[in-house]
Parts: sequence; C-alpha cells; structure tokens
Amino acid sequence: MINFGLPRLDKDQKLREMFSKYCRLKKGDIWVDEEKKHKIGCLDILDKDALIKTLDGEKPTLAIHDPPYNLVAFKTRKVEEFIGWCKEWIDFTNEILTDDASLYIWLGADQKKHFEPFPEFILMMKETAFESKSFITMRNQRGYGTQKNWMAIRQELLYYAKGKPVFNTKDVYTEIPKVVQGYYKEINGIKTENLERSKSNNIRAGNVWVDVQQVFHLLQENVNGCFAQKPLKSIERIINVSSKEDDLVVDFFAHAGSTLIASELHNRRCFTIDIEPVFCEISIRRLERLRETGKPGWQNSNPFAGEIRKDKEIREYLINNYNLNIPEL
Ligand SMILES: C[S@@+](CC[C@H](N)C(=O)[O-])C[C@H]1O[C@@H](n2cnc3c(N)ncnc32)[C@H](O)[C@@H]1O
Repeated sequence: MINFGLPRLDKDQKLREMFSKYCRLKKGDIWVDEEKKHKIGCLDILDKDALIKTLDGEKPTLAIHDPPYNLVAFKTRKVEEFIGWCKEWIDFTNEILTDDASLYIWLGADQKKHFEPFPEFILMMKETAFESKSFITMRNQRGYGTQKNWMAIRQELLYYAKGKPVFNTKDVYTEIPKVVQGYYKEINGIKTENLERSKSNNIRAGNVWVDVQQVFHLLQENVNGCFAQKPLKSIERIINVSSKEDDLVVDFFAHAGSTLIASELHNRRCFTIDIEPVFCEISIRRLERLRETGKPGWQNSNPFAGEIRKDKEIREYLINNYNLNIPEL
C-alpha cells in the first residue's frame, strides 16, 4: 500500500487551483445524489437565492455549522466583521429551518485574545430567533500551549433550538459503562440505587464529551488535506439525538463532508455547501468511497492519490514544496 498525505489545502491556494481540473463542481454548481437525495453546492453561504433554489421548498429540521473562526472566505477579519457575517447566515438558517428545529455551531475561542470570537458570538445569538440550549465541550486529545499554560484541549459546540425540536434521549448515551454505585434516592417509598433507576447501563454524554477521538492519520475516517475535520462520532451523536430518519440536515461549511457522511450513515438526507470546489469534490468522493468500500475516509492516503501519481505538475509541486514521498504511477 502506498501511504501519502496532503498538506493543508485551506492554506495553499495554488494547490487548490491545481486540483480544480479534477473537481466536478465550479463555483455556483450543485451536485445532486440520485441515490439518497443528498445535495452538495459549491456556493458562498451568503448566496441566499441559490441556497433557496437548491432547497426547492424543502425545510431542514437540523443545521450543523462549523464556520472558519476568524476568517471570512479565507481573509482574516476583525471580530465585529466576523460576527456581522455570522449573524447573516444564522438569520438565514432560521428562515430555512422548520418551526421546530435544532442548530449546532462549532466555535473556537482564542485564549490569547480574550477568547474571541466566543463571547461576541453568544451575545449576538441573543438577537436571533434561537434559544440557547446547551454549551457542549468536546475533549480533544491533542492540544496546544502546554509550557506556560493549561493545555488547550477543548472544542466548543453550541446547541440552540427554536420551537420544540426532537431530542431522542435514547441516543444520548456513550459506550462507557456505569460503574459508580450509590446516589440513593427514595422513589414511591422505596430506597433505590443509581443503577436500579437508570435507563441504560452506560453513562450519558452530558455536555462534556470525553469519549470522542479527535481525527488523526491512523483513523479510517481521516481525510488528508482537511485540517478542520470534525470526528464522525460527534456528528453522528448530534444527528441521532436531534433529527429523525429521512429528515433533511443542512451544513453550510462542508470541508471534509463529515455531516454528509454522518447523514448517509444514519439515513438522513444532507444539503451541504462549501465555497471551495476542492472541498466539494472531497465531500463527493468521500460519499462515493463510503458506498463503494464502507470506509469513511482515506486513513493515511488522500482523496486525490490516483491523480497525483499521474500528474507530473502536482506531484513535483508536492515533492518540492512539502518534501512528500510520492511514487510515480
Ligand atoms: C472549519 S471548516 C468545516 C469543517 C467540517 N465541519 C468538517 O468536519 O470537515 C470550514 C469550511 O468552510 C468553508 N467556507 C469558508 N467560507 C465560506 C463561505 N463564505 N461559504 C461557504 N463555505 C465557506 C471553507 O472552505 C472550509 O472548508
């Protein structure tokens, strides 16, 4: 087996352009999956007309958004500008969702800059139609800032809702067995113990998720080139708890297509977009690969491995700029 990765595609515009000839979508195009009716759009999140047209009257019940944190379409912006941009697509999300719907947002908090944009973001959300439901923390395994600070291993995930969306409590459990005994409580005059009362032998995820493995190159789901990929297990949990089978799930920042893959695995339909053709292509290829091989990613290979080995220009660019070991086909 030939193992080779890809550098971060978000950081290398030239490489993204070099891959454009292998991308089925150009900016403005929509890909429709005939099998399960997922849709992938190469669209800007603010292109509301195109988004509404693609939805074709359908209303999602669940939105899972993972915006680039201090960037607007790859350009660094001031936090006020970033928040103004977020408000636009949050209000738009409200317009397209059903009356009873859930919204999850992955967000960062820069500890060197007063935790920007987190405080500004949660204040902005007070001005929207959504009610706050939970502030979830997902524990990452790798972190940063270990020498003079506590290692930063938190990933923030905000849960909002409008109306009365589904919340499937049977799906809130982890695979971690309950072992702690105690917590006695009297029910109908009978003293009961924690394990007797519980609905499951496993512990609930709660709002601190310690049981999700961060994506890295040894995992099957790894998509090389996509630095911001969220673990499938976390998105599967969101989808199982906050939607029903056949529901439409929307994600405005596809990247490695993780929401699409989790939707496919749990019989939901997904409409996802990315402004970059290369991430749309990666999402399509990831879905096709899952269907063909059952594998949710490329582990330590990458979505364009076949083309790279044949394409002299890309191969040499990667060898010269990233010192990658890529055998010629
Ligand atoms: C943080 S990543 C999302 C990661 C994704 N949740 C995953 O698990 O792979 C953000 C993505 O948003 C895309 N993006 C940035 N600006 C955008 C815009 N204005 N409209 C649509 N997509 C955008 C980027 O190309 C990038 O792929």
